[in-house]
Amino acid sequence: MLIKNPKSSELKESAVTCEKVYRDRRALLKHMGFLGAGALLTSATKAHAGIFDLFGKEKRTVFSTEPLSYSQNAYSKNAFSNETILNNTISNNIDSKQVLTPEAKVISHNNFYEFGAKKQQPAELSQNFKVKPWQLTISGEVEKPITLDVDDLFNHFDLEERIYRLRCVEAWSMVIPWIGFPLAKLLKKASPNSRAKYVAFETLYDPKQMPGQASRRLGGGISYPYVEGLRIDEAMNPLTLMSVGLYGKTLPPQNGAPIRLVVPWKYGFKSIKSIVGIKLVEKKPPTTWNLLASNEYGFYANVNPQVDHPRWSQASERRITTGGLFARNRIQTLPFNGYSEQVADMYKNMNLRKFF
Ligand code: MTE
Repeated sequence: MLIKNPKSSELKESAVTCEKVYRDRRALLKHMGFLGAGALLTSATKAHAGIFDLFGKEKRTVFSTEPLSYSQNAYSKNAFSNETILNNTISNNIDSKQVLTPEAKVISHNNFYEFGAKKQQPAELSQNFKVKPWQLTISGEVEKPITLDVDDLFNHFDLEERIYRLRCVEAWSMVIPWIGFPLAKLLKKASPNSRAKYVAFETLYDPKQMPGQASRRLGGGISYPYVEGLRIDEAMNPLTLMSVGLYGKTLPPQNGAPIRLVVPWKYGFKSIKSIVGIKLVEKKPPTTWNLLASNEYGFYANVNPQVDHPRWSQASERRITTGGLFARNRIQTLPFNGYSEQVADMYKNMNLRKFF
């Protein structure tokens, strides 16, 4: 998939202030001649990631992730200019550049209630999570139902890097270099029929492996499996990504291994993790947070600074960067999380206060 015209929402690798480790790896690859448009990136060694304390000191190494081969396409390499990034970042406190959230933060500050409702619990409680064997089925209103195993997830599609902002409904945000493929490519393989109006997603249900599913207290009172949904045009939008990795490696369990959704213009809860089922359906499917509190979490969940959560403002967000808890990193939230150019058209006749 190629986006021909650079859009303000797209982040070029050179336009973000990269985490040092990431930059070093890139520099090494460049030196070795691996980096270039369309080139494949491969890192030679198995990567280890750890849990870090507030001061960035590693507490312990908890799991290993595998290096991934992926291409540098328009999204990550050529599609952005510093100027558009600057216009797109309305910030009074932090650097005017986008700052890539350090990997250590991306993998240790998580929402994955199947492994506990506190931010550090998913990284701590998911380390024995097994992603092999894994099956992802695409079914429902399709001509050709598909079942993919875990190797297919990495081999059936060209993997590409997308640097996206992730805005949580809790008013914090990150900038993350995901690796994956457009959901549209996967859905097209299954040939949706004319009755396919929505896409329903389901996370693995396995209380033996996911302690939050076995305990209401640990699991935040959610009734599992976690489910999500998109309208078919949202699912087919080129920005909508199935992610199998981040920071050049396979996803760690706490980020949704082996495969998750990333919908960058919507609040993070739409980006469902560890997916086993995708079903094309005629009617709007139920979604976990909407079932839990329909007045607080809508089906659409488009990032919207003008529509507050009933209990807090959505006008600004805390961008998680290298700074500690007290870093001056409050920034203004942008409509559709800064991706209006690509997605606003899909909602042009809708009352976004009503359909929040
Ligand atoms: N998917 C499942 N299955 N369970 C969850 O609890 N949390 C969501 C989303 N996907 C969640 C989930 C929320 S609230 C957010 S903000 C993002 O995952 C967080 O993704 P991250 O931990 O990779 O930053």
